[in-house]
Amino acid sequence: GKVAVVFGGNSAERKVSLASGKAILDALNHCGIDAHGFDPKYRRICELKDEKFDRVFIALHGRGGEDGSIQGALELFGLPYTGSGVTGSALSIDKVLSKLIWHARKLPTAEYVVILKDEFKASDAAQILALIGSEVMVKPSLEGSSLGMTKATNERELLSAIKTAFEYDSQVLVEAFITGPEYTVSILGTRALPSISMKAASGFYDYFAKYQATTTQYNCPSGLSNSDELYVQSLALEAFKALQGKGWGRIDIMRDRAIDNKGKPCGKFYLLESNTVPGMTKTSLVPKAAKQTGLSFEQLVVHILAQTLT
Ligand code: DAL
Ligand code: MG
Repeated sequence: GKVAVVFGGNSAERKVSLASGKAILDALNHCGIDAHGFDPKYRRICELKDEKFDRVFIALHGRGGEDGSIQGALELFGLPYTGSGVTGSALSIDKVLSKLIWHARKLPTAEYVVILKDEFKASDAAQILALIGSEVMVKPSLEGSSLGMTKATNERELLSAIKTAFEYDSQVLVEAFITGPEYTVSILGTRALPSISMKAASGFYDYFAKYQATTTQYNCPSGLSNSDELYVQSLALEAFKALQGKGWGRIDIMRDRAIDNKGKPCGKFYLLESNTVPGMTKTSLVPKAAKQTGLSFEQLVVHILAQTLT
């Protein structure tokens, strides 16, 4: 059948999505699949129906594509699509809702405070730091690729970080800072792929480190002990399932930098977030993990698409 690869869109991660979508489209075409690019920045979603596409590969990141919106439209059109459904997408993209659910399931995630744009007062800053500690990460609840995120270690920095985050979302999360290292676990179908560890030269695996830096280090296998590896994989699967994730995704995890009396890392792992349309660019993580299990980029993409047939 005819496949639409939907990519681009209007979100702050448009550029990343253009790269992901292009790579996915090329891979599908290379495998002889009749796939066509479709950018909702310039097209109306209903054209997917009018042009008789049979299936949709969603390669949109962030708002409009990873948040349940397009999933809802495709449900109404009766068009099968890759990845999570409406609820799974909406829960995963919202860092506050994700945390509430993980908390309720007793899954480990850092202490946090939620602040709302129309209620927040500068005088609240001191209390926030008193509540969750003086090293914090400030994040827009609904954003990807670390956009709008800043670390803060005092009131002045916190206020400026909150101001930045409010430019991306009216709901902002202030989270206790976890030192890292950072890990990520990719999910394909019902299984977890080997974890990857990421290390940015700046110490913060931010937008620059993700897509532009040549100094970011990736390790896969990540170097975790066997038991830690099994643990993060099962934690990721549980976290993904708790948010009703489906098909494929990626769970980001931070570890505390503690060592035991033999000098071995023994820090606790904390869930950061779930991504239901993870990046598929040249430097992206899911393809790296897939490769480690012997799956090429093309096989990975075909595998994800095949899930729309079941
Ligand atoms: N939000 C980006 C695309 C990722 O998680 O890979
Ligand atoms: Mg994300």
